[in-house]
Amino acid sequence: MALRILVVHYSQTGQLTRIVRSMLAPLAGQSDVRIDWHAVVPEPAYPFPWTFRTFLDAFPESVYLDPPAVNAPPSEADYDLVVLAYQVWFLAPSTPLAGELP
Ligand SMILES: Cc1cc2nc3c(=O)[nH]c(=O)nc-3n(C[C@H](O)[C@H](O)[C@H](O)COP(=O)(O)O)c2cc1C
Repeated sequence: MALRILVVHYSQTGQLTRIVRSMLAPLAGQSDVRIDWHAVVPEPAYPFPWTFRTFLDAFPESVYLDPPAVNAPPSEADYDLVVLAYQVWFLAPSTPLAGELP
């Protein structure tokens, strides 16, 4: 039976997604490994580039791990391994992924 991996990721520039794809590349080439990719989409979307005001305004939610509304990821029960690929926002996991933390 194939090893099932779910990658839950959020990136504004695509940089973090490229990093995690590179890290998982050795596994992605294996016939007995299946990797599903779930891009987290916050609603409303965060701006990019950020204005100074919106950047500072993200501080309280970031520190308190208060997540925005996001599209629902697949059930973790269907996977052997879940990889959470998140940016660091104000020394905390970025809010789009905060709701996915165990
Ligand atoms: C609101 C906000 C807060 C951030 N806080 C930090 C931080 O505390 N430490 C850090 O190293 N990077 C911080 N960053 C940079 C992010 O970790 C990340 O490098 C950046 O958002 C680009 O990610 P991306 O290229 O995958 O979109 C912050 C970025 C944002 C937007």
